[in-house]
Amino acid sequence: MSRVAGKVALITGAARGQGEAEAREFVAEGAKVVLGDVMDDLGKAVAESLSDHALYLHHDVSREESWANFVATAVQTFGRIDVLVNNAGILHAAPIAEIKLEDYLRVIHVNQVGCLLGMKSVIPHMAKAGGGSIINISSIAGLEGAIGLVSYVSSKFAIRGMTKTAALELGRVGIRVNSICPGGIDTPMGRGGSEGFENVDSNAWYRALPLQRIGKPEEVAKLALFLASSESAYCTGAEFVIDGGALAGKRFG
Ligand SMILES: NC(=O)c1ccc[n+]([C@@H]2O[C@H](COP(=O)([O-])OP(=O)(O)OC[C@H]3O[C@@H](n4cnc5c(N)ncnc54)[C@H](O)[C@@H]3O)[C@@H](O)[C@H]2O)c1
Repeated sequence: MSRVAGKVALITGAARGQGEAEAREFVAEGAKVVLGDVMDDLGKAVAESLSDHALYLHHDVSREESWANFVATAVQTFGRIDVLVNNAGILHAAPIAEIKLEDYLRVIHVNQVGCLLGMKSVIPHMAKAGGGSIINISSIAGLEGAIGLVSYVSSKFAIRGMTKTAALELGRVGIRVNSICPGGIDTPMGRGGSEGFENVDSNAWYRALPLQRIGKPEEVAKLALFLASSESAYCTGAEFVIDGGALAGKRFG
């Protein structure tokens, strides 16, 4: 009940899916949580269900001024920032030969630039408080290529690179930075609801995994909780794969 007691956590993309699960898990373990998203009705409802342990703010991670407001309001409300989960993400499917530059850049701005701005925005507050934990949500698509997902793959590889660079720069001020690389997780994105992906049978892919099923948002939230808590005190610059065995190896025959 108290693995992150007294900590204040900022979670982006927290209106649904993995971000929502992380908000619920962190509050259940004693944290105050500030939820950011662009889906305001959903986000407000999640925060209301967590009563005075949570606050929802409209927050577009791709905009620097939105980060300034998100962080300032979090500090005004709860007094400090101990944890940031850079979770917000979008996916667009199109082959390289056909992708429109604007679609490529839209994904880069949300997934990659959003992660950079998030880290940049919380560093002064965490450093002043003597440390903190930043958790960047990459993907197994940040560890290997994926046909038709060039913008998403580029952004998720970049997140792993940024995570390692940040860990090198920030360890001396007590800030740990790690990434999580989920495989298929049961959210609107993981169920194939993203742009260009509507007709893909994701069930067949999940059945073929070593663990033969899709992952649950709550399972990723447990891993994020470990990285947010002092239980992971010696982890930084690392990536934590949670994928049902998807990357364990290739099947022959
Ligand atoms: N579901 C999967 O299979 C899977 C696998 C690997 C990695 N991921 C990553 O996990 C993270 C969470 O995704 P999910 O599975 O919960 O999907 P999801 O689509 O349910 O949730 C993503 C959330 O991000 C929000 N968002 C989108 N653009 C935003 C912006 N500009 N600013 C703020 N919020 C924004 C959405 O409104 C939504 O609430 C993403 O980074 C995603 O890339 C997902």
